[in-house]
Amino acid sequence: MEKIRVVGGSPLEGTVRISGAKNASLPDLCAALLTDEPVVLTNVPEVRDIRTMGRVLSALGATVEFRVGGTVEVRTSDITSIEAPYDLVKTMRASVLVLGPLLAREGRARVSLPGGCAIGDRPINLHLQALTKMGAEIAVEHGYVEARADRLRGAEISFETVSVTGTENLMMAAALAEGETVIGNAACEPEVSDLAALLVAMGARVEGAGTSTVRVSGVEHLGGARHQVIPDRIETGTYIAACAIAGGEIEIQRCVPGHLRAVIEKLRQTGVRIEEGPGNLRVRAPRQLQPSDIRTLPHPGFPTDMQAQYMALMTQASGTTTVTETIFENRFMHVAELERMGADIRVDGRTAVIKGSTPLSGAQVMATDLRASACLVLAGLAARGETVVDRVYHLDRGYYRIDEKLRGLGADIERLT
Ligand code: UD1
Repeated sequence: MEKIRVVGGSPLEGTVRISGAKNASLPDLCAALLTDEPVVLTNVPEVRDIRTMGRVLSALGATVEFRVGGTVEVRTSDITSIEAPYDLVKTMRASVLVLGPLLAREGRARVSLPGGCAIGDRPINLHLQALTKMGAEIAVEHGYVEARADRLRGAEISFETVSVTGTENLMMAAALAEGETVIGNAACEPEVSDLAALLVAMGARVEGAGTSTVRVSGVEHLGGARHQVIPDRIETGTYIAACAIAGGEIEIQRCVPGHLRAVIEKLRQTGVRIEEGPGNLRVRAPRQLQPSDIRTLPHPGFPTDMQAQYMALMTQASGTTTVTETIFENRFMHVAELERMGADIRVDGRTAVIKGSTPLSGAQVMATDLRASACLVLAGLAARGETVVDRVYHLDRGYYRIDEKLRGLGADIERLT
């Protein structure tokens, strides 16, 4: 199993290029199931979750061609299977994004229930309730969701909790449904808007993406399209945090600062200097980080996917920081590992109180999920001595070559195979 070894103490300098957004590419790839014409996506990050989605789509009968440089072409002239099997879904919950498009195009879908994951119980009840309102008959049997519908009908749906993939699944289902679907309390994440842009390019009628009400008027047929995926805002935030914790000054290229407004504002409050250009950011670390509390929220609030990395940073702030996780119940798995490196953190329910600044010392640590592993790499950049992060496959699910990108910025980091 691969590991990453980081030796702390080298300030970062130079430039880093942000890859395409994993969480936008995943629904975009699934949208290709809605048409028998080719869908070509560019700026797709070559990370493990994308390969996994390629396998899910291939299992359904799609031809998925990965080309160098992040272009992926998906052709689904025929759907030969309507089943997303357990073996694939259990490794990546986002596989559930095939449910909406399969049901819309084939009138049938069989998708394994994702089950639990390292960051808590993550049900898909909201996806199922919404599709039921659109006329689908849904049964859960033998660990699988079995869904059927002659043709989905537009409906008024208001999500009781904001769900990103729930909103995306529904938008795809509604694109080929009969009549208008109004999605209330919709997720406003930039990835939802990216999917809407692709659907529109395919001939769908979608309005309001990026706001809390999305309207989709179903059409009979969708065609092929070519679409460029947005840059990854969480990867962008992670490199800002990396510079802030390691020290130094870097330029982050090919990003959209407007997609991570809450992260930029928060990091400025901690003393990080961030200058915004069109599609780039200049980041300068402060001599001393200041504490500043966060509360994770749906977009445009502070993203839960940046919570772990922010916590690593706050171990080095001069005072006490409170981090409140409101999106997931059990997203503090990184705390125990940070403590092994010398952090002083107390967790009470959904709140963590971090007492800074404590010197960190390198240790052997275990990655538990994607963002937790990024947090441990960041802590390693600030720690005295050597940190070895085990289970790097978590990191590779969502970060394109993080070791190479950080090494390009001057970090002392290598992958041990
Ligand atoms: C997406 C992102 C993930 C991010 C999360 C929150 C992708 C592929 N993944 O995950 O990186 O951390 O948004 O920003 O885009 N919920 C229910 N029932 C449901 C669906 C969700 O109770 O049917 C709850 C979840 O348990 C959670 C909250 O709603 O507490 C938000 O989850 P959701 O937005 O659905 O997360 P994902 O779309 O799975």
